[in-house]
Amino acid sequence: MNRQQTDIALAGGRMHQSLAHDSGRKHVSGRAEYIDDIAEPAGTLHAYLGLSAIAHGEIVSVDLDAVRAAPGVVGVLTAADIPGENDVSPPHKHDDPVFAEGRVEFLGQPVFAVIGETRDAARRASRLAKITYAPLAAALDVDAARRAGGTLVTEPLTLVRGDVDAGLSRAKNRVSGRMTIGGQDHFYLEGQIAFALPGEDEDVIVHSSTQHPSEVQLMVAHVLGISQHAVTVNVRRMGGGFGGKETQGNLFAAVAALAAKRFNRPVKIRPDRDDDMIATGKRHDFVVDYDVGYDDDGRIEAVDAVYAARCGFSADLSGPVTDRALFHADNAYFYPDVRVRSEPLKTNTVSNTAFRGFGGPQGMLAAERWIEDIAYALGRDPLEIRKANFYGQGDRNITPYHQTVEDNIIDRLVGELEASADYRARREAILAFNRTSPVLRKGIALTPVKFGISFTATWYNQAGALVHIYRDGSIHLSHGGTEMGQGLYTKVAQVLADAFGVGIDRIKIMGTTTGKVPNTSATAASSGSDLNGMAAADAARQIKARLEAHAARLYEVPADEILWVPNGIEAGGRFVPFTELVASAYLNRVQLSAAGFYKTPKIHWDRGSGRGRPFLYYAYGASVSEVTIDTLTGEYQVDRVDILHDVGRSLNPAIDLGQIEGGFIQGMGWLTTEELWWDEKGELRTHAPSTYKIPLASDVPPIFNVNLCDWSANREETIGRSKAVGEPPLMLAMSVVEALSMAVASVADYKVAPRLDTPVTPERVLMGVERMRAGG
Ligand code: MTE
Ligand code: MOS
Repeated sequence: MNRQQTDIALAGGRMHQSLAHDSGRKHVSGRAEYIDDIAEPAGTLHAYLGLSAIAHGEIVSVDLDAVRAAPGVVGVLTAADIPGENDVSPPHKHDDPVFAEGRVEFLGQPVFAVIGETRDAARRASRLAKITYAPLAAALDVDAARRAGGTLVTEPLTLVRGDVDAGLSRAKNRVSGRMTIGGQDHFYLEGQIAFALPGEDEDVIVHSSTQHPSEVQLMVAHVLGISQHAVTVNVRRMGGGFGGKETQGNLFAAVAALAAKRFNRPVKIRPDRDDDMIATGKRHDFVVDYDVGYDDDGRIEAVDAVYAARCGFSADLSGPVTDRALFHADNAYFYPDVRVRSEPLKTNTVSNTAFRGFGGPQGMLAAERWIEDIAYALGRDPLEIRKANFYGQGDRNITPYHQTVEDNIIDRLVGELEASADYRARREAILAFNRTSPVLRKGIALTPVKFGISFTATWYNQAGALVHIYRDGSIHLSHGGTEMGQGLYTKVAQVLADAFGVGIDRIKIMGTTTGKVPNTSATAASSGSDLNGMAAADAARQIKARLEAHAARLYEVPADEILWVPNGIEAGGRFVPFTELVASAYLNRVQLSAAGFYKTPKIHWDRGSGRGRPFLYYAYGASVSEVTIDTLTGEYQVDRVDILHDVGRSLNPAIDLGQIEGGFIQGMGWLTTEELWWDEKGELRTHAPSTYKIPLASDVPPIFNVNLCDWSANREETIGRSKAVGEPPLMLAMSVVEALSMAVASVADYKVAPRLDTPVTPERVLMGVERMRAGG
């Protein structure tokens, strides 16, 4: 077969089309089945967690008699009931118990589970425990953790290039400061949930709302003290994950499985929203201290910065998250001399975890802060400073981790957006407006995004797929990726349809299960379609090769005269429909099933030396936001947003635009209205939508122009030359912060950088305005 011809014949077919999300209709009609919708077998029990009431202390006594005696209670489980290891730590650091043992380390930590005939019975009984503690000092945030000695949950990282001390002392101008960056609750619509069904021997099936079924499988096996092969984990879809189900589902799955085996009945666990928010990890909040040297043109000469993160009581993913913050300390900017250090601090709060961008957004936001500092110090448009510092040619192309930026398109992308959003004229108009408007002030800002794609844990960059063709020509598709609304299942099905030249309706998209594709990675780091798309394509290639050989024999033509055309093949000039080809292959005993595999090429990373090529490529984007603030109240609105974003050659433009819009709005929520607030005892007081404010449909900017870079194709050999899209758009929301900053700065005639910390709530805007009035 002539492969090139095949590619041409099928290119432009099903792979780059705007197909609807495969579950779109079911999502909006309520027909999509989530775990809580699965019909419960007779005898199903329900588990509920009993949580710690203090942030840090020794457990003196646990009296669960009243819990056991409550109506409808079948039993309770504590650490003593765990046959295997009492640990669900994702990096296997043994610091993440299922149930606290001996001491509690945050307010809301699970101490026991109660199992009831109904969920309500279990939930009510969980409140009846009498636990006494001997309280210990609790360090709740970065400052307190530092004061208490600065215990780290994991090894910190330092990235160095050049001589930062020499660079700083050489620089004509210097700016130093501190930025605090808030965390974020995932607020997935479907909360954490697991449903376990006991089987014979050691077997257990767990339906888990997880981005990482293979790890849930491993954790359940550890906790139960059994082999991984006895555990099957299934997930058809999540009602959102956003990183909050990369590791945080482990505990719920372990409790459900433990109870299911113990009582030999199906067990479901689903916490209330409040308990979900209190007991599960969130985006890390950061404190970034920086010292930056620059010249009179605003070119950065040296950056020295420390990124301290509130990690919570255990390591979880805090190592890779704080690493990724450093990997994005440059955003799209070249730093000639640089030293950036992470400080992953242990605190007596819930263990923070993955959240869309995985530390990258925090790193990039700090970069935008010092760009802004420089712009206000020099009295220039911040966009000019941004452009002056973009990665360029030659030696201005090396990142702090020594990877060369080979695919830079930021100049073109920003130039096009600047023109299409009419940035210059609008900025002039806004400056004029602010001169004559006493109360309302406007701001506009353009910020870039450059985001590295690949897991920095190199071994994670692998994927598998399993494809069956049945004798009627229908196709079964399984892969290791999970669907959380991002459209991965649709994209991989498009890849397969494209490969076979058939309509997507011929393909049955199967839920993800560890029984079909083993040892998979989390669906995370935006890599789902890059990895699983390639694995599915590999499976298709194998089956197609067998079908070609079969057709060559059957129709007595040379194999290279077999062409794949839409809905069948051409064998020596005659058209054979796909169904006929498959049926005859079956009768001739040709294997119609294949397991595909993929591992990302070219990447390597040595954490010890801080050098490597951790990313296969970068995704780029930029946005322009315009805002209006009320200088008397601090209230504001986002009036207009223009986005130009790079997804390479889009696998599905409709889905990608949805990811960009959703990512931007979620980022805007993080940076403006979503505020996590723990009181002095360590109790999360914003644990419901009444106090924790995610963006609403009404917060979508009235003018919202979102476009793909239709000219971009991935220079690396990714599936269809596409680029990952899941996380990068979240960081487009940085332009909202910078626009608010300009509006605030207008109060002091743009002489002082407002240095707004995030979230930029109306209160922070008002405080910023007051600071400006007081002279900065
Ligand atoms: N989109 C929706 N609708 N729901 C989600 O939970 N998670 C985001 C992003 N987009 C998410 C989403 C995160 S954190 C990641 S890493 C990617 O999707 C994961 O999917 P992908 O690798 O297939 O892009
Ligand atoms: Mo996304 S934070 O990598 O799950």
